[in-house]
Amino acid sequence: MVSRVIPVDAFDLVIFGGTGDLARRKILPGLYRRFLAGQMPESSRIIGAARADLTDQGFRDMVAAAIDEFVPAERRDPVAIAGFLERIAFVSIDAVGDGGWAKLKGLMRENVVRAFYFSVAPSLFGDIAERLHTYEIADAWSRIVVEKPFGRDLASARALNGVLAKHFNETQIYRIDHYLGKETVQNLMAVRFANILFEPLWKSEYIDHVQITVAETVSVDGRGAYYDKSGAMRDMVQNHMMQLLCLIAMEPPYHFDPDAVRDEKLKVIRALEPVKPEDIVRGQYLAGGGEGGYVEHSENPASKTESYIGMKVNIANWRWKGTPFYLRTGKRMRARASEIAITFKEPPHSIFDDAPGWKENVLVIRLQPNEGMNLMMMIKEPGPGGMRLMQVPLDMSFADALGDEAEDVPDAYERLIMDVIRGNQTLFMRGDEVEAAWAWTDPIIEGWTARGDKPQGYDPGSSGPEDALMLMHRDGRRWREIKG
Ligand code: BG6
Repeated sequence: MVSRVIPVDAFDLVIFGGTGDLARRKILPGLYRRFLAGQMPESSRIIGAARADLTDQGFRDMVAAAIDEFVPAERRDPVAIAGFLERIAFVSIDAVGDGGWAKLKGLMRENVVRAFYFSVAPSLFGDIAERLHTYEIADAWSRIVVEKPFGRDLASARALNGVLAKHFNETQIYRIDHYLGKETVQNLMAVRFANILFEPLWKSEYIDHVQITVAETVSVDGRGAYYDKSGAMRDMVQNHMMQLLCLIAMEPPYHFDPDAVRDEKLKVIRALEPVKPEDIVRGQYLAGGGEGGYVEHSENPASKTESYIGMKVNIANWRWKGTPFYLRTGKRMRARASEIAITFKEPPHSIFDDAPGWKENVLVIRLQPNEGMNLMMMIKEPGPGGMRLMQVPLDMSFADALGDEAEDVPDAYERLIMDVIRGNQTLFMRGDEVEAAWAWTDPIIEGWTARGDKPQGYDPGSSGPEDALMLMHRDGRRWREIKG
């Protein structure tokens, strides 16, 4: 089956920070793949903008090298690559001065979508936004794309929103959380709101607890300096994990429409209870397996930054009061595995008096790898000799269910960039959503700083610090095993 490609309008996409790491790894290879899929209209162009002194050809060579490195061989078609490169130009620009802006203006065309990707440090957002207006490069229909980190606390996020709001309306601002571009993350909404099956049970009356796990095997080596100022709370929980939690916890929006969806997510974030210190465990990976530990990778022997977080979160509303959400995420863990597991309660009364083998129903949504869903059900253990129960999975792998179509799925960045061109903000964070997430996060981080809390060490390849196990045991529950 060939996947349906929704056409987009012709566009001029300017990538500030066009020679940077994100552009090379994700944005440019992603655009090439969309070009290959026939989704880039003939006259569309991509303009790299950066401080480097490059010619158009010099930038094209860099893009060709990025495609070589980050696009799998079977998708590298020399004719397509040549066609893609023809659409690429470069402007050497001074984000804080005047150099290059007049040239950029000269390149912009009328009657195409103008989009500006700010793949630069947030400290430059204001300068770039201002110059896009002074030089009359952006117009009322232009869109800008910004990346995380969107601030490092509520005050800085507010300041950034303020800077952007001086020159752009909220409907022009696309704040990326790449988790929202993942196929399986969007599937959470399809599973919840396109099936009647789950919704009646989707509340504290029937759900015992929810576990959200994003485990990674990678370390922070190579980006330790950035990471050490951030930590798992700012790097993963405030944004990606929060989005996952919202998609599970939110009320059904009245329509799959940007503001309808974002209004419901915002309500969830605002309903989060403050987290008690004893409900959070922070960890830092130790050296092992021939590799340095966190403190070596961050080059900060006294670092108190966490590379792991396990926490219990409560949502104070009618639907979720009494059903905790346990979140955990960490680097250098046993396996790369992200999943959401919804554990249901016991039936109100068992007719199988002492039938052994009973376990809870669990709905597991595997986000990566091996995307799919698993519903753990009870059946009768086969054979004579009375009623014994056993748990079996109703197992669906998306790859099996979708066949070839699963292979054609665009990655998160491809999808999100095309949504910018289409003008669809559903999968982007609104300013108030980001601020609400920081408002909840700030007191947690401030508490650690005030108390001088230090993370607990954990072995690389493990499932996190010991105390994280206790966090669950205390409540008579257990984390699910982390399996790749
Ligand atoms: C990024 C974080 O936003 O997401 C990284 O900064 C993390 O630390 C990454 O590794 C995880 O993304 P993915 O798509 O590999 O799950």
